[in-house]
Amino acid sequence: AAAAPQTSGSGPGRDRLLLLGRVGVADPESLDDYRAHGGYTALRRAFALGPAGVIREVTESGLLGRGGAAFPTGRKWQATAAQPEQPHYLVCNADESEPGTFKDRVLMEGDPFALVEAMTIAGYAIGAHRGFLYLRGEYPRALRRMEHAVAQARARGLLGEDVLGQGYAFDIEIRRGAGAYICGEETALFNSLEGRRGEPRSKPPFPVEKGLFGKPTAANNVETLVNVLPVLTLGAQEYAAIGTGRSTGPKLYCVSGSVERPGVYELPFGATLGELLELAGVRQGLRAVLLGGAAGSFVRPDELDIPLTFEGTREAGTTLGSGVVMAFDDRVPLPRLLLRIARFFREESCGQCVPCRVGTVRQEEALRRLAERTGDAADDIALLREVGRAMRDASICGLGQTAWNAVESAIDRLGAYA
Ligand code: NAI
Ligand code: SF4
Repeated sequence: AAAAPQTSGSGPGRDRLLLLGRVGVADPESLDDYRAHGGYTALRRAFALGPAGVIREVTESGLLGRGGAAFPTGRKWQATAAQPEQPHYLVCNADESEPGTFKDRVLMEGDPFALVEAMTIAGYAIGAHRGFLYLRGEYPRALRRMEHAVAQARARGLLGEDVLGQGYAFDIEIRRGAGAYICGEETALFNSLEGRRGEPRSKPPFPVEKGLFGKPTAANNVETLVNVLPVLTLGAQEYAAIGTGRSTGPKLYCVSGSVERPGVYELPFGATLGELLELAGVRQGLRAVLLGGAAGSFVRPDELDIPLTFEGTREAGTTLGSGVVMAFDDRVPLPRLLLRIARFFREESCGQCVPCRVGTVRQEEALRRLAERTGDAADDIALLREVGRAMRDASICGLGQTAWNAVESAIDRLGAYA
């Protein structure tokens, strides 16, 4: 699905697109066009503020990480910048692999210079001179666009030994992932960058202290970084007035499934799920909506008034995650869908820890028996709950901890197998 930039209603952040504004408008291969559409004003402001000033703005803006976990970006940058150990690294996590997530691809393909500029600002703020862009291997066009943008920026003195003549050295190295979902987990990603097996490390220590090559590292998602541009061009206060008190700014949503116009939508936090689905043209016979991707959870068609904020979805017992909104109509066989999700987790488990390595296999087996009606349904559901609890409580990383979320919500909220 391509970008489908649209807004609706009125209020702060609804009158213009702050993240998708250049997508489909400015030439993604022209640095001059990027500048003509407001590019590099944020970096100039960053140099005027100084590193501490940038971190202050980002903190005051209330910006929360958009990869899925909603960690405060200002706190992450502050913690990295404060580490005495050198060097510091910036890592942009562009290994976008959550099923149903494609917002970062649209940003990188449609507005690649924005990410180059945002990474430069982040590097400046945390005191890094090298930034790594870890890009999903299955995104060849995004790779070409990002390689071109980095080369252009380098040729024009916007990367390199003396960025914008300000005496700050920064460069970006692009590395491709090789198709493993787990390498999107930040510490598995570091291992992959270091040439090791892509297996998650135990946290703490957090990357801000010991990250890439054991050095202080800020790892940020693409959309998070791109948000830093409006934070600096609007100023923290104006940015924070968009959205709700706790979820500030604009958010990208990846809408797919049973809708007329699948694509990436930008709305300020606080819009409801129903409003978003209306924009995308929801079809008749809506049966369920999966929020947050395979690691997320299903909601029913009578729950469309859920506000799309980190706190609102949490209070409603679901998650916003990375902004996945997958609609399913009543023609979709739910047991088959759940089996497909379970297969995904079983295939993508790195196998490092027992609860996840064994649990994802047992989960898939039970769901297959349920889909094929070859076992005792009550026994299998009880087994799923037990296995799910073990995975959630005892897995090392988010993959195992969330592998049962969607299945649990389908049983409890949608009455699957009832
Ligand atoms: P997490 O909650 O462990 O960490 C979030 C971020 O905050 C990390 O960068 C972590 O290093 C940092 N952090 C947490 N506590 C900290 C502390 N005390 N001090 C300093 N830094 C701290 O979550 P995780 O496992 O990194 O991400 C899970 C999320 O990833 C899920 O919510 C899921 O939605 C999302 N996800 C997104 C995918 C995508 O393609 N965008 C794919 C798979 C999962
Ligand atoms: Fe690997 Fe799964 Fe354990 Fe994560 S939870 S470390 S993916 S086995």
